[in-house]
Amino acid sequence: MADHLMSTYARLPVQFERGDGIWLWDTEGRQYLDALGGIAVCALGHAHPGVSQALAEQASRLVHTSNLYGIGLQEDLAARLCEISGMERVFFCNSGAEANEAAIKIARLYGHGRDINCPAIIVMENSFHGRTMATLTATGNRKVQAGFEPLVRGFIRVPFNDLEAIRTIAATKSDTVAVLVEPVQGEGGINVPDRNYLEAIRRICDEQGWLLMLDEIQTGIGRTGHWFAFQHENVLPDVVTVAKALGNSVPIGACLARGSAAECLQPGSHGTTFGGNPLSARAALAVLDAIESGNLVANARSVGQQLLEGFTDQLSGTAGVTDIRGSGLMIGIELDRPCGELVMRALQRGLLINVTANRVVRLLPPLITTERQADMIVEKVSELIREFLAE
Ligand SMILES: Cc1ncc(COP(=O)(O)O)c(C=O)c1O
Repeated sequence: MADHLMSTYARLPVQFERGDGIWLWDTEGRQYLDALGGIAVCALGHAHPGVSQALAEQASRLVHTSNLYGIGLQEDLAARLCEISGMERVFFCNSGAEANEAAIKIARLYGHGRDINCPAIIVMENSFHGRTMATLTATGNRKVQAGFEPLVRGFIRVPFNDLEAIRTIAATKSDTVAVLVEPVQGEGGINVPDRNYLEAIRRICDEQGWLLMLDEIQTGIGRTGHWFAFQHENVLPDVVTVAKALGNSVPIGACLARGSAAECLQPGSHGTTFGGNPLSARAALAVLDAIESGNLVANARSVGQQLLEGFTDQLSGTAGVTDIRGSGLMIGIELDRPCGELVMRALQRGLLINVTANRVVRLLPPLITTERQADMIVEKVSELIREFLAE
């Protein structure tokens, strides 16, 4: 049936027909516990009544006009995002990659504004920023880049969580204008840096006059137990990108900025047809309302902690489990061997999980996950891992 789709995904042999909260049902009527949430997209779970109602109402009123005209809902959403992030202005787009493209373009304009002809952005090993040409170049994974050369100029790569490497660039590369980093690396394996990593980068950026640009596409909108992961530290970036959970499934991305970074893009310098149209903006407003009224940021923090403690209880000391780590509802369990097959095994048991970086079981359950559901996740995933490692 998929003969007419380009083979961009090795899809699992299942199709879902219906969802409700953390649960999904496939076309055969089988029920699944979704501990992946569409890869950190469905923060409110599936078929959230508040979002569904907002979408239905907006769809019957006005879906799209154009960014040639004022869009009140987009303005309201921008104001809400600025309020929760400390940023000042927002550019809306349709995906994470596009949000990062906007950030990269801002960094280049910022550099040219300072008479730097070939501005360079520091990016990290094992990072993931998207699949467009600039964002795959920024991504620290050769598999994502292979075959697409020539890559885009203007990126300097350093190891993640290595401040000395950034200081070396500061001392040697005068064309550098920005650092682009995920506060917790998602695709790279749920890599949590040392405490105050971002604060230290902030200091270097301030000394050098660089922009600090955070890719919060996976970590943002409550996932780590704050609205944004940078809020775990005493730090304010210049640019923040979000997408995924912002629309809870409706495609929307955003590039937030403050200070001079917020003034770089001007009429004619950037844009996108669908960005922040009435439908996606209304959906995102409903998402923020639901997260706020349900106190779900705090829930992500406490249930995330419960998951981490549960897995530590169940799995630490198990031969083959090398690390259990996470931040809020971003959990990684690292094994000493490739474990991609766990995804299929979990599916057969009615559970959706993911394996990233070859050896890391990744869980990104929705922000609505209850304590009881968290217990179920711990029990099912631990059992799966124990059985796999015992073979
Ligand atoms: C941290 C991060 N940045 C960027 C992206 C790209 O987002 P999108 O797939 O919406 O383009 C992702 C997607 O997984 C991501 O996790």
